[in-house]
Amino acid sequence: MAKLAINGGPKVIDRQLGKDWPIFGDIERENLMQVLESGRWWRGSGPSDTSKVTQFEEQFAAFQDAQFGVAITNGTQAIECALKAIGIRPGDEVIVPAATFVASATACILVNAIPIVVDIDPGNYQISPAAVEAAIGERTVGIMPVHYGGYPADMDALRAIADRHGLWIIEDSAHAHGSTWNGRGCGSLGDIGCFSLQMGKTLTAGEGGICLTNDEDLAAMLYSFHHIGRFEGRPFYEHHLVASNLRMTEWQAAVLLGGLSRLAEQAETRDANARYLEDGLRAIEGVSPIERDPWVTRWNFYFYHFKFHSEAFGGITRDRFMEALNAEGLSCGLGHLHPIQHNPLFTERNWGPACFGDNEPPDYAGMPTPECERIHKEEGVSLTHRLFLGGTDDMDLMLEAIQKIRDNVDELR
Ligand SMILES: Cc1ncc(COP(=O)(O)O)c(C=O)c1O
Repeated sequence: MAKLAINGGPKVIDRQLGKDWPIFGDIERENLMQVLESGRWWRGSGPSDTSKVTQFEEQFAAFQDAQFGVAITNGTQAIECALKAIGIRPGDEVIVPAATFVASATACILVNAIPIVVDIDPGNYQISPAAVEAAIGERTVGIMPVHYGGYPADMDALRAIADRHGLWIIEDSAHAHGSTWNGRGCGSLGDIGCFSLQMGKTLTAGEGGICLTNDEDLAAMLYSFHHIGRFEGRPFYEHHLVASNLRMTEWQAAVLLGGLSRLAEQAETRDANARYLEDGLRAIEGVSPIERDPWVTRWNFYFYHFKFHSEAFGGITRDRFMEALNAEGLSCGLGHLHPIQHNPLFTERNWGPACFGDNEPPDYAGMPTPECERIHKEEGVSLTHRLFLGGTDDMDLMLEAIQKIRDNVDELR
């Protein structure tokens, strides 16, 4: 008789793991009613201390250890705003990792810059500092590490490279709310940090974004570029820069303040559960956790990744393993491991004339990222963050499901 659920056996996990997402409560309800009844539905030009957008900017910046925050419509536009604030020019090259959401690169193209895609480190799945250094050319102006899955990238190595070559760093922190690098919040480590607050993220208002910085001048430019070129303290209809409207509404901030009040506790729960799971993964032949680098002081992940090793699993493919794991009741996927330059946008060169202007777009087909490709095809397995918001009994069930597949792998061959 078959034992594995994929072959008709009983499932290991027949209840919900973790929690539903999003999580909300009375703070959101009260804040939303306050916004409704106040009639102040945007920050506008009223007193800033009563604006929920301003409160959110201040509280989130402090939470991530940054001095200034500018709330934005979404994470893609947060990156565009950051690039404009830092002075990007048409044809400038920005180095981005292959393992990320496509917006890390398309935000560059949308401001007429050229993303150069580099490989990831197979140890931690983060942008490889060696690959960054090898990709630096005459037109390189900056590095955009993505704290992929919320795991802090190697900021010491990247900072050393940036300093050696006179480059800036914009951290795409869309996955890294609450993650800390050597005790400091992600998004406060480079020149500007950009966050997404879209539905799936660990802090969300359905849509939204925020840029953080410790540099007062950059903060002023971020403010202006998100607010149709206004300068703070100047007359309302005086516009100094060509800029879009990227303002967050008071509704979004009302919801975000609720989420932020729970973020530290949720981050601790996710990280503690992940550490527990990692101990268990190490004890199962054929899977292994991403080894934690010493600078990772808190990993509040958006995706949790672990590694699957086919040769120790009787030669079955990673995809077959994932099918079996899904059948056992543990929902798993690939996160954003698909190398971004393999998207049709790049392979079919589907950009309009407005994007690269007179600059020749690079040959993205000739930008191989073999580690990311291998990990995407053969090794990486990704679990979503909400699964880690329960107790360690949930982790035990995850481990039991993996162990069961290992013990019955003959059924899959
Ligand atoms: C790494 C990364 N960067 C940028 C973004 C863009 O954020 P948004 O969807 O809020 O525009 C995302 C969204 O998932 C992301 O994962």
